[in-house]
Amino acid sequence: MGLKSRDIISTAEMPKEDVDLILEQSDVMLCYLKSGNVPPILRGKILANIFFEPSTRTRLSFSSAMQRLGGSVLGFASVEGTSVKKGESLEDTIRMVDAYSDIIVIRHPDAGSSRIAADVAKNPVISGGDGTNQHPTQGLMDLFTIQKEKGLDDVTVAICGDLKHGRTTKSLIYLLAMYGLGIKLVSPAQLRMPGDVIKDVKKKYGCEIKEYSSMQQVVSDVDVLYVTRIQRERFLNIGEYGKLEGSYRVDKKLLEKAKKGLIVMHPLPRVNEIATEVDSTPFAKYFDHAAYGVPVRMALLSLMLGKV
Ligand code: NCD
Repeated sequence: MGLKSRDIISTAEMPKEDVDLILEQSDVMLCYLKSGNVPPILRGKILANIFFEPSTRTRLSFSSAMQRLGGSVLGFASVEGTSVKKGESLEDTIRMVDAYSDIIVIRHPDAGSSRIAADVAKNPVISGGDGTNQHPTQGLMDLFTIQKEKGLDDVTVAICGDLKHGRTTKSLIYLLAMYGLGIKLVSPAQLRMPGDVIKDVKKKYGCEIKEYSSMQQVVSDVDVLYVTRIQRERFLNIGEYGKLEGSYRVDKKLLEKAKKGLIVMHPLPRVNEIATEVDSTPFAKYFDHAAYGVPVRMALLSLMLGKV
């Protein structure tokens, strides 16, 4: 059915043929970028980037993607200076932004907000992260990075860190299961992936998902360590955060036991869960990983705007 005029809100509901198409098109966009010759297929189109929560990579890589393809960008990076401060509802904000643009990327602290936006908007809506729920385009660029760096055959990924509050991990797990990759979940007991997500992934894809409490237990068996930060801003009790801060860390010592060819990925921002000494090792792929956000988002924008 293609992606034209559709919304991207959650990887849990994406058909595999859509993801195949996005991976394929991301590769085409990567080739254009490498050649320095990107066709301006989105000239005249406007992306609205509306960010109710902080962002560096998601907002800027969507802007970069749109502008590389000849389109333009409007929006806001925080609610300061918008009528949200006067009490305007999400729905009314979306109605207006929809009238000013051709496609919307929204990031919002409330789980379910992207779905509300998609229901109100006539134009396509892409979730740039809704609370602790989903961050589908991050999941897609995670999968694309794994494909480029390791391939998608016989690869096992350890998803590590704050799996309770993180949203990138909840998007990634569905995509890994969709492509039959091995999945291991590694987190402190207090930060485990919600049981309903694990149950849903298992039900949809019939895969095995094992849980661990430390990266030492998996580092010699997996091909990818996907590390995430503890989501400090999602803790209701900051004392609880304090107890978990620094409870896991990737450093050279841990990586001495790594499986040959292991790569370390991270959606970023990193706080202190990957020591900077790892940056100069061949394990470190997190900055390349972030850079793949541009071709993947170019693919999404062009597919959803019906230009490929
Ligand atoms: C992530 C997010 O916002 O969920 N950031 C990103 O988009 N790369 C991860 C995070 O904030 O930890």
